Amino acid sequence: MTDTVKLNAADKDLDLKVLHGSVGPDVIDIRKLYAQTGMFTYDPGFTSTASCDSAITYIDGDEGVLLHRGYPIGQLAEQSSFMEVCHLLLNGELPTKDELDKFTYTISRHTMLHEQLATFYRGFRRDAHPMAIMCGVVGALSAFYQDSADITDPQQRMIASHRLIAKMPTIAAMAYKYSIGQPFMHPKNELSYTGNFLRMTFGVPAEEYVVDPVIEKAMDRIFILHADHEQNASTSTVRLAGSSGANPFACIAAGIACLWGPAHGGANEAALNMLREIGTVDRIPEYIARAKDKNDPFRLMGFGHRVYKNYDPRATVMQQTVREVFAAMKVSDPVFDVALKLEEMALSDPYFIEKKLFPNVDFYSGVILSAIGFPTTMFTALFALARTVGWVAQWNEMIADPEQKIGRPRQLYTGPTQRDYVALDARS
Ligand code: SDX
Repeated sequence: MTDTVKLNAADKDLDLKVLHGSVGPDVIDIRKLYAQTGMFTYDPGFTSTASCDSAITYIDGDEGVLLHRGYPIGQLAEQSSFMEVCHLLLNGELPTKDELDKFTYTISRHTMLHEQLATFYRGFRRDAHPMAIMCGVVGALSAFYQDSADITDPQQRMIASHRLIAKMPTIAAMAYKYSIGQPFMHPKNELSYTGNFLRMTFGVPAEEYVVDPVIEKAMDRIFILHADHEQNASTSTVRLAGSSGANPFACIAAGIACLWGPAHGGANEAALNMLREIGTVDRIPEYIARAKDKNDPFRLMGFGHRVYKNYDPRATVMQQTVREVFAAMKVSDPVFDVALKLEEMALSDPYFIEKKLFPNVDFYSGVILSAIGFPTTMFTALFALARTVGWVAQWNEMIADPEQKIGRPRQLYTGPTQRDYVALDARS
């Protein structure tokens, strides 16, 4: 285990410190590089850059490993609940029975939205994308919950975290109700976190909504699979926004905006739309050819990952959950057959093998969400709902770090060197 590496730069021989984590790649500490050499490192997509140290989630992309506070995602998906995983991510340990009951009770007491926020929805067109509504309404929370916006107060940080975790299902369900012109359903706190969400989404005032335990379990597992994922683009956005001292609601709204992109959380919506466009198994070769064609911007949505160069362990659980939900609901969907065949054909194609492109968490999620009854436009909103706990856990970790500073990357400047202003009448 080396503790320093040598670098010769700007005619200087430097010994740079190597920092070691509990598992995974070591890092070269380059914090003093610019002061010592007048040079920056260059890594636009952060493919080789650790932006922070964190104790929350560990990913081994080559081995397809995902741990939350050390616990493998497969075990959590199989044996835990989303409320337990929220406690684990936020507090670092699986809760005792009493701790879980207390945490669940606390979250349930924050599920309601300030009544004025309901009027925000009326300002949107009915066909507004739910993610546009989520960005707007979550950002607006900072106008209503100023009593938990002081980021220097750990207690206020935790209240804001609980509020965000608790209110996202209500906000997402209201976005869906608004899009279909149905009345908003208020939370019913004797239900589970996930059961409450299903009732607010699919229930109507005219009749009692009965939560289907199979759907509730599948939804809860889907939330677990999306809870956190190291320093992905939206989490990095939340950290960068938080590093300026912005309030937690504004930071999470920034994360939602970033997640919306089709290269990130928007891929679940894009993947199901792609599978539906392919439509039948016989059309798969045409789309695989397009994905391989350098001159065609088309990519297989739900495939590939910056970190996973092996199967995304979440996709494994997701595919298994599709089978369980379909069997329990006694439904099938030709889109699932297309997805399975597409995966089989892609994973036997040299292009995907060489580039280590495997299905990711977004490839199968849409198949289940569609079977449960969600429109594709709601898929990324559900991803944001689940990822909120990861965002707030990472945000809390950063704010609590006494060494954290405002994030302020530099650049390689390629524009014009200094030149003098030219008066308008002298320009040709
Ligand atoms: C999520 O970071 C996270 O952890 C994210 C996430 C989380 O939980 O937070 O896991 C959630 O965002 C999952 C990813 C969802 N996105 C998609 O499914 C969109 C489709 N996939 C890609 O666009 C792509 O794979 C990315 C964005 C996911 C990763 O892109 P990278 O790491 O920057 O890789 P790249 O774009 O440089 O691609 C490397 C090569 C390229 O070919 P070459 O230029 O080297 O010849 O692989 C090709 C790409 O063209 N490639 C694909 C492809 N993905 C990459 N070719 C066809 N189809 C694809 N899906």
